[in-house]
Amino acid sequence: MKSRLVLGALMPTDVIARAKAEFDAIVSEGPGDMTAREITRAAADHEAEAIMFVNTLPLDAATIAGLPPSVRVGATSSVGYDHIDVAAARARGLVVTNTPGVLTECTADHGMMLLLAAARRGAEYDRIMRQGWGYRIGQGDLLGVRVSGKTIGILGMGRIGQAMAQRARGFDMRVVYHSRKRLPPALEQGATYFADFHAMLPHCHFLSLHAPAGPATDKIIDARALALLPDKAVLVNVGRGALVDEDALYNALTSGKLFGAGLDVFRTEPNYDTRFAGLDNVVLSPHVGSSTRETRNAMGFRALDNIAAVLAGQPAIDPLWH
Ligand code: DGY
Repeated sequence: MKSRLVLGALMPTDVIARAKAEFDAIVSEGPGDMTAREITRAAADHEAEAIMFVNTLPLDAATIAGLPPSVRVGATSSVGYDHIDVAAARARGLVVTNTPGVLTECTADHGMMLLLAAARRGAEYDRIMRQGWGYRIGQGDLLGVRVSGKTIGILGMGRIGQAMAQRARGFDMRVVYHSRKRLPPALEQGATYFADFHAMLPHCHFLSLHAPAGPATDKIIDARALALLPDKAVLVNVGRGALVDEDALYNALTSGKLFGAGLDVFRTEPNYDTRFAGLDNVVLSPHVGSSTRETRNAMGFRALDNIAAVLAGQPAIDPLWH
């Protein structure tokens, strides 16, 4: 007999097909991901042993308490897990897993795309072309900032931060970073560690955010941090919107302190602060850092692998705690 699963998020067709082949699966039919209420109800109706979801589901204490006792494992198809109340899950005895490793490269690619687009005015140039161009652009007009030879600061030197650093090195950038812990030299690859985040900022022509969201990083990019950056710096965020004080960022972008920003994540999603859409010096994307066919399949498959392992009585592959 197949194990019973509620697949509560809109997933790629290959992932849905595999979920249906390997599990007795109830699948979210949209138009959106299942809400907390919908997923707990579906789990109860289906006597599910597992739930699979993404970061749109706040798996908070109330939702965890609302899950039927049959549910033994919850798998988020994401590396971030700030949407999960880990303490409540542990107390309930629910195994919770995420999908680290499989989305590193594509998320760093997206970060580099935003960095380059913000520095070289990619979105503005694209808009000019769509409007028909048709006028002389002088050699002093619409200038970007040079990337090569500059310094990038990386906040959060985990897998994705390291992959961003690798890409930046390919563009002849110098890398400095701040993380909770210093990396061993083999992983640092010449990057300069700053134990003090604020001491790093004056060096950063570019600042790329890869730290997890949480009390220690909430609004870490505030007016003070932005003021410490060199004038005309560029901010890139493919991490979490909660890292940024968006009023302070808006002020830094409109005052000319920042040259620009590339933003994939926002404090409130999907209803983000649309003041940013009115700024020419901002490149925006809708939280799609990992969004390639290959990577979204790999994330979904990894979540299914985790569920299968736990329901087979084996240790989870990617448990949130040991
Ligand atoms: C992640 O994996 O955490 C991405 O941000 C998608 O949620």
